[in-house]
Amino acid sequence: MSSDMTTQLPASTNAVWHHATVTRARREAQNSHRGAIIWFTGLSGSGKSTLAHAVEESLHQHGCRTFVLDGDNVRHGLCGDLGFSAQDRQENIRRVGEVAKLFMEAGVIVLTAFISPYRDDRERARGMVAHGDFIEIYCDTPIEICETRDVKGLYKKARAGEIAEFTGISSPYQVPENPELTVNTGTASLDACVQQVIGAITNRGVCALQLDPTLESESKKYCQESGAQP
Ligand code: ADX
Repeated sequence: MSSDMTTQLPASTNAVWHHATVTRARREAQNSHRGAIIWFTGLSGSGKSTLAHAVEESLHQHGCRTFVLDGDNVRHGLCGDLGFSAQDRQENIRRVGEVAKLFMEAGVIVLTAFISPYRDDRERARGMVAHGDFIEIYCDTPIEICETRDVKGLYKKARAGEIAEFTGISSPYQVPENPELTVNTGTASLDACVQQVIGAITNRGVCALQLDPTLESESKKYCQESGAQP
C-alpha cells in the first residue's frame, strides 16, 4: 500500500451525493429494528468471531437482519492487499468502518470481528456514524489464554519468529478505555457472553428481544463481579 493512501485528499472530488428515496428510516421500519454497528475488538483467539457469529445466530432466529464482517474473511477479498503494519491495519479498519456503515444504512445489524488493536483506528470508525450507532464490545481474554487456545497455530509461529508484527507478541494491542461492554471471553460461557451482548444491544434500543432469564442472571452476576456494564 502506498504510504500516503490514508492521509491524501480524496481523488473523487467531483462526485455528487445522490439521495435515496428508500431511506434508512424506511428500511428500519420495514425490519422492525434499527441498523447498528456492533464492533468486537480483542486479541487473536480472544473469541471475537465465535461470539459475533453466536450473537448473529440469536438475532437471526429472532427475525433481525444481520451480517458478520470477519477479519480473516475480509482479508481474503476487500483487504487482501493489506498486511499487519500499523499503517495497513489502519487502512483495514478504515475500509471495514466504511463497509459497516453502508450495512447499517441498509438497516442491518452488522457485527464486526477485527483485532482493531489501535484506539485511534477504533475511534475513527466510531466517529463515522452517529452517537448510539456504534457499540464497542471488548473481548477480554488474556494473552496467556489466547496462546493456550492457539486455534490457528499462529502464536506458536509468532513465538518462533516465523510471523512478524503479531498482535500481543511483537505488535501492540491497546485495550479499549471506554467500551460499551466488556465480556469475559476468557472464562465465561459463550451463552453468558451472548446474553450480555444481546442485553447491550437491546438496552440501546437497537432491537427488542426477550432474554433467557437463566442466562440473563448469569450474565448479570458476571457484570456485578467484574464491574462491567451490561
Ligand atoms: S487487524 O489488526 O487489522 O484488525 P484483522 O482482525 O483484520 O487484524 O486480522 C487478524 C487475523 O489475521 C488474525 O485472527 C490472524 O488469524 C491473522 N493474522 C495473520 N498475521 C497476523 C499478525 N501479524 N497479527 C495479528 N493477526 C494476524
